[in-house]
Amino acid sequence: MEVLRISGGTCLKGDVQISGSKNAALPQFAATLLSNEKSILRNIPDLSDVRFMGEILSELGANVNRIDNTTWEIDPANIIHCAPYDLVRKMRASICLLGPLVGRLKKAEVPMPGGCVIGQRPIDLHLRALASLGASLTLRQGIVKVDGINLKGNYIFLGGRHGSTVTGTSNAIMAAVLAPGQTKIECAACEPEIIDLCKMLLKMGAKINGIGSHILQIEGVDKLNGCTHEVIPDRIEAATYAIAGAITNSEIQLNNLNIEHLGSFLNLMNEVGVGITKRGTDSILVQTNTEKLKPFEMITMPYPGFPTDLQAQSCALACMADGISIVSEKVYPSRFMHVPELLRMGADISMEGASCIVKGQKNLKGAPVMASDLRASAALILAGLAAKGETWVQRIYHLDRGYDSFEQKLQALGANVERVSESKLPKSF
Ligand code: EPZ
Repeated sequence: MEVLRISGGTCLKGDVQISGSKNAALPQFAATLLSNEKSILRNIPDLSDVRFMGEILSELGANVNRIDNTTWEIDPANIIHCAPYDLVRKMRASICLLGPLVGRLKKAEVPMPGGCVIGQRPIDLHLRALASLGASLTLRQGIVKVDGINLKGNYIFLGGRHGSTVTGTSNAIMAAVLAPGQTKIECAACEPEIIDLCKMLLKMGAKINGIGSHILQIEGVDKLNGCTHEVIPDRIEAATYAIAGAITNSEIQLNNLNIEHLGSFLNLMNEVGVGITKRGTDSILVQTNTEKLKPFEMITMPYPGFPTDLQAQSCALACMADGISIVSEKVYPSRFMHVPELLRMGADISMEGASCIVKGQKNLKGAPVMASDLRASAALILAGLAAKGETWVQRIYHLDRGYDSFEQKLQALGANVERVSESKLPKSF
């Protein structure tokens, strides 16, 4: 296994290119299965989750070719309806296969996704959506079996305890686009990744109205064509680098992003006192004086609220603010595995239910820490960039799931960070 060694306290400088969105790319890989024609997906990030999804599509019988570092060609002419357990269990997003398999083949067998440390990952809303369209579902030995032979358009309500469901909305849309008749999805998620999926499906010939709203109207069609589609930039990656600049007293420029997707994040940066200068619609300049970072209160919510995928990184930023910040998690209430690791670095954080109270002390100290999930690993690296001394982040395979060339991009900004073998981990600190 590998670890990331970070020597903190260096100001960053320069430009960083934002990659394509993981959470847009994964459902779009699945969406290619809705047609028997070839599709080409561009601006795809180089991530282990993306490679996994490519392997799963191949196991389903599709011809999958990576044309270059960011372009994939998928030919799903001949596919089967059973997804491979050993691959699916490793990645939650593989649940997005349900919709297209049921839509195209009128049947699917997909193992229940594994749990993960960010909290419960139920799929009741996904199953409700398919049942609303007339599919019959059974769960046997951890495998969801769907019979969609009588699939037809209908009304679907997708609201759950924590609001809507992003991948559940993807599944509902992908099942409905080939279901005869009209489908109305109420309480649909309206994340940019859902909008981008709908844009891809329109290119394939789907009929969808209400895109970007919580109510989608879909008219089923008989067949969908292949398409070529470029995936949107990764808004979570962009915001992660913006926080990297803010937490290290730096001036950096982020390129190839979509400013329209960053509303709630840019609003928080403004409140904290991070200087953000918009350059066109796809670049921002981040300028900060960490002496002046103001504490903040933030609650994560479904889009357009503050993204839960930026909560851990925001906790790292709060450690450098001047005062007490309160970070509350409304989407995944137990998504605080990064807190004990930040405490090891000298952070002053206490928990109150699904909120953490962070007393900014601006004196993080490097330490050996353990990544627990994708966004927690990013948060620990950000803290390591700001800390005095060396931080060793272990289990960085979590990071590789969702950040393309993370340490290379940080090195290009002047950060003192390197990926080393676990054997290099100091025996004592
Ligand atoms: C997507 O996960 C993202 N993943 C997550 O990003 C992101 O954190 C999440 O949306 C919320 O924005 C992908 O898009 C691949 P949900 P998803 O279904 O779709 C509850 C990352 O770090 N719920 O919107 O699985 C659920 O428990 C990952 O990139 C049900 O109750 O999330 C949660 O509290 C982590 N029943 C809330 O809804 C269901 O059937 C939102 O979950 C489904 C979800």
